[in-house]
Amino acid sequence: MSESYQLRCIGCAQVVEPRAMPGNFRCEQCGELFEVVYPTWTGPKQARPNPSALRWLWKERRMSLETADRSGVWRFREMLPILASEKSIVSIAEGNTPLYDLPRAGERLGVARLHAKHQGMNPTGSFKDTGMTTAISVARENGAAWVACASTGNTSASMAAYAARSGMRSLVLLPDGEIAWGKLAQAMDYGALTLQLATDFDGCVRVLMEVVRRAPVYLLNSVNPYRLEGQKTAAFEIAEQMDWQVPDHLIVPGGNLANSSALGKGFLEMKQLGLVAKAPRISVIQAEGANALVRSVNEFGGKKLEPVEAKTRATAIRIGNPASWKKAVRVIEATGGWVEQVSEAEIALAKAEIGAEGIGCEPASAVTLGGLKKLIAQGKVASEDSVVLLLTGHTLKDPDYTIQYHRGEWPKEADAALGSAIAATRRNAIRIEASAENVLRELEKFAG
Ligand code: F0G
Repeated sequence: MSESYQLRCIGCAQVVEPRAMPGNFRCEQCGELFEVVYPTWTGPKQARPNPSALRWLWKERRMSLETADRSGVWRFREMLPILASEKSIVSIAEGNTPLYDLPRAGERLGVARLHAKHQGMNPTGSFKDTGMTTAISVARENGAAWVACASTGNTSASMAAYAARSGMRSLVLLPDGEIAWGKLAQAMDYGALTLQLATDFDGCVRVLMEVVRRAPVYLLNSVNPYRLEGQKTAAFEIAEQMDWQVPDHLIVPGGNLANSSALGKGFLEMKQLGLVAKAPRISVIQAEGANALVRSVNEFGGKKLEPVEAKTRATAIRIGNPASWKKAVRVIEATGGWVEQVSEAEIALAKAEIGAEGIGCEPASAVTLGGLKKLIAQGKVASEDSVVLLLTGHTLKDPDYTIQYHRGEWPKEADAALGSAIAATRRNAIRIEASAENVLRELEKFAG
């Protein structure tokens, strides 16, 4: 493996040497983010990777016993030559996640080809692992001793695990009382210094930027462009799992907006190299209470973004000032996708419907199904289209949410807003006295 990439600013197009990268990953000239680019891919054809050879090689590697080959990220390493040496790889067997079909939801919505790419089936239960393996491996090559992130939960869980595997120390800043217990427990379990700050996610980011300036900690938030190189591999997996026929639509939750950007990058790079004929339309769905991108696109044509004060029970995407919004706008425009927002009740119902397929996901992931319903109603998704929902986190990440929903404790407004649809999914959690009589009575009620 050898470094054969450049870091280019998405604002002023300045190229910087990887070693000269500022610690906050922002361009010193214009303040924008960087992206990893591969100059040889636009050069003479013989210098580019060969599509058929790659498809074969990537499949073969799944049989290998080598760590790098067994990783669903590094098995695509020709598409992410960011390391000087393969020995730097820190992997916990991430990626290689399932693509499920969703037959019942598909039938209800009249979309026969509805799939879910479940990135919650990664080692720490979220898509973050695919980007953490790449960025931590780069951190190791840079000789980092401490890594750090601000997080709504999943990034911290993932970073803590990868740091522990590689022998680095990790610092996480979390909004106090605003993250799901499962995620907080993971960060603690994997040994991170876990600081809960009396502020929101955006406040944690502000504090961390100051810390990064003043202490030798390596930043692993998704402004770190190496994160996106790993996260883009989900696009390669989707293409491979669909026999290189990409779906018409890919629907992604939007928080800090790195993942939608990464998936777009993955598909557009595959198209550039002739691995696939087209990219799917990539649409980004946000919670109504954390809808900075939706407002940016609808009110300002994606030219500017006004931060919002974020409020949603889907805590993973409770983000008011998304860092990668310009990258996401670019992907939505390049692929012809849309932005949409969904209410708390719509998220809760969609989550229960994904659960009822025997798959499950965390609330932030369920915005995808809620958003799909809206895109269908607007005629943007047709019944013959193939659709992939990107599920980002495992259902066990936030069990409180699920229990409160099924006991009918939350969201109170849901029954009125969504009526019988919600009632059908939420009447299955009941507390009763311990007798067979009672059990049989409930069984009869439920079956009827
Ligand atoms: N879904 C889940 C489960 C997430 O944890 C996140 C982000 C997103 C979707 C949104 O992805 O930020 O790339 O647009 N979680 C971050 C964290 C911010 O700190 O764990 P995005």
